Amino acid sequence: MVAASSPVLATNGLTKHFRSVRALEDVSMRADDREIVGIIGPNGAGKTTLFNLIAGAFRPTSGTVTFGGKDIGRMPAYQRCRHGIGRTFQLIQPFGSMTVVENIAVAISATGVGLGAARERAAELAHRTGLGPIAEKVAGEVNAVEGKRLELARALGSSPTLILLDEIFSGLNAEEVTDLIAIVRKLPDDGLTVLLIEHNVGAIRRVTDRVLAIDAGRLVSEGTPEQVLSDPIVMESYLGQRASA
Ligand SMILES: Nc1ncnc2c1ncn2[C@@H]1O[C@H](COP(=O)(O)OP(=O)(O)OP(=O)(O)O)[C@@H](O)[C@H]1O
Ligand SMILES: [Mg+2]
Repeated sequence: MVAASSPVLATNGLTKHFRSVRALEDVSMRADDREIVGIIGPNGAGKTTLFNLIAGAFRPTSGTVTFGGKDIGRMPAYQRCRHGIGRTFQLIQPFGSMTVVENIAVAISATGVGLGAARERAAELAHRTGLGPIAEKVAGEVNAVEGKRLELARALGSSPTLILLDEIFSGLNAEEVTDLIAIVRKLPDDGLTVLLIEHNVGAIRRVTDRVLAIDAGRLVSEGTPEQVLSDPIVMESYLGQRASA
């Protein structure tokens, strides 16, 4: 067996309380270089909270976040973005009156790139995420799948090495999910490590290398997609709930 290299991302004992709400409790996890790691769990389990702690939107109650071997727990969100952590948001939030390509260019220029270069790179990213044909469409008029692709393109705009994708397949039909999976699966070829929150079990099976299951703030299962999705703890807490939803 090859000695494990140091992970791109690691959390140790990561905990976040909001007054009496224990949103995340003692979560230790890692993501290795170019790995696609899925995060599953019921509504309110703490999945987005984990992303907010990694991206720097929240400060942890306790525990650490290490990125590229460096403790980034006290680094503000904009610096984490510049250091290579990109994210999408669960609810898409583009600048509605700007075009698709302008929205991507804004995300790129926020990292210090000049506007001319940002527009050029934005056109490339629009192409890569399948938005080429609607690059000049006003972002306020995009449909669900175009919105998800735009979120992805904007997150890629900061040239991240780690990207956090929060439910980018939700609300899409089977064909749209398949098309987006193909784009996500190519991200590691460009050197990216991917963390992906997802409720769609079929998508989890097809896109992830490893899965973490969170329930009530705690990490309850970890392993290959097959291992985790057939874990009795996960089936009871997560799949059971969704089956009856
Ligand atoms: N900013 C906040 N202030 C107070 N409570 C919060 C805040 N953010 C999240 N919470 C609470 O923390 C818990 C975990 O929420 P989180 O958004 O992380 O869940 P989730 O697993 O992403 O759920 P979903 O699948 O519905 O998106 C919930 O009880 C939620 O109400
Ligand atoms: Mg969430």
